[in-house]
Amino acid sequence: MTFHVVDLIRTKRDGGRLSDDAVDWLVDSYTAGAVADEQMAAFLMAVVWRGMAPGELSRWTAAMVASGDRLDLAGVGRPTVDKHSTGGVGDKVSLILVPLVAACGAAVPQLSGRGLGHTGGTLDKMEAISGWRASVSPERMRSVLRDVGGVIAAAGPGLAPADRKLYALRDVTGTVESIPLIASSIMSKKIAEGTSALVLDVKVGSGAFMTAHADARTLAETMVTLGEAAGVRTEALLTGMDTPLGWTAGHALEVAEAVDTLCGGGPADLIEITVALARRMLALVGLDGGADPADVLAAGTAYPVWRRMVAAQGGDPDAALPTAEHVEIVSASASGFLHGLDARAVGVAAWRLGAGRSRKEDPVSVTAGVRWLARPGEWVAGGAPLLELHTDDLSRLPSALEALVTAVEIADTPPPVRPLVRDRIHL
Ligand code: URA
Repeated sequence: MTFHVVDLIRTKRDGGRLSDDAVDWLVDSYTAGAVADEQMAAFLMAVVWRGMAPGELSRWTAAMVASGDRLDLAGVGRPTVDKHSTGGVGDKVSLILVPLVAACGAAVPQLSGRGLGHTGGTLDKMEAISGWRASVSPERMRSVLRDVGGVIAAAGPGLAPADRKLYALRDVTGTVESIPLIASSIMSKKIAEGTSALVLDVKVGSGAFMTAHADARTLAETMVTLGEAAGVRTEALLTGMDTPLGWTAGHALEVAEAVDTLCGGGPADLIEITVALARRMLALVGLDGGADPADVLAAGTAYPVWRRMVAAQGGDPDAALPTAEHVEIVSASASGFLHGLDARAVGVAAWRLGAGRSRKEDPVSVTAGVRWLARPGEWVAGGAPLLELHTDDLSRLPSALEALVTAVEIADTPPPVRPLVRDRIHL
């Protein structure tokens, strides 16, 4: 069936709903280059204002999945389950979670992206490991999933190519910030990845994509509905992102922290979130009757799985991680309780030190980043070291320091303790 794209733009502009055939035609024609960027940009802007009906959105997502290949993971011999995070500062959870859930008997096929903006991408972190390569063929992925149980790799060009094109267009047309467009973009890639179940970590707070709880909840509900409609058992946890996770933000720094956690150490907040996600992942695939992930993590049993995962992609798990040439110390301005450490400010500082990119082609520095020496709730002495800024390029320091000017809040009383996991969304 053929449609006139201008009619479809008008329908959406006026608040109407596209038929299934119209959605399929629009996504296919745009992916094939028969609908022009300016026409799709107009359509996307109409979606930003008018939204999409639930059935229309799941058809849109299905059309994006169908624009490329859907991986077949039926032969890996273990139930498949993945996690997706909407992105937070210091969020190195995947590096611990993938081997942990694999150590508990599932297969985790995590196809991931690189970071853009103030949150770091999982692939950028893994690339801090000497020799490690992000690119893995589908055959190799299946064999590593069968033998080791976990893969973290780059999504290839054949995975939801419609999203690749649409996301690039949204980025330059002010149409990223739309719940249906974000939800379909994320879920099309996760559905195409071939996982049978998925747990979403939807971050909420100053360092997250969604700063308001209500918006994060709507995004989570929309994604859970899309996953279930596509036959993927899906649920979401809403987790706090006002304070960065763990002790570090920056690629090599985060790998070191993840390894420490896999060996039975690690910070309490990072362990809490990782274990909460692992428990839900195992429950979704019926593997929750075995050892508790908290015990597996504390015993260091997931660490050998991490080593095998790294080695399977050419990485040397014994190689020393690179370190920055310069470490600048920021001291506490007064004595008192650390009341707040703003996640966004820390993320922006790490990004300006070299850890982040402005355009997707930019290189990143794996050594750059921030380490904080106290967490909210702890007492700090005025003049004592509070933050370490790591960089190879001293000219980056002033703008990083500027990002941190209002990041630290010190008060006479400790801040209220809030749970990290705020909500669970499931159908
Ligand atoms: N991440 C995605 O993959 N897509 C979006 O639209 C936003 C974040």
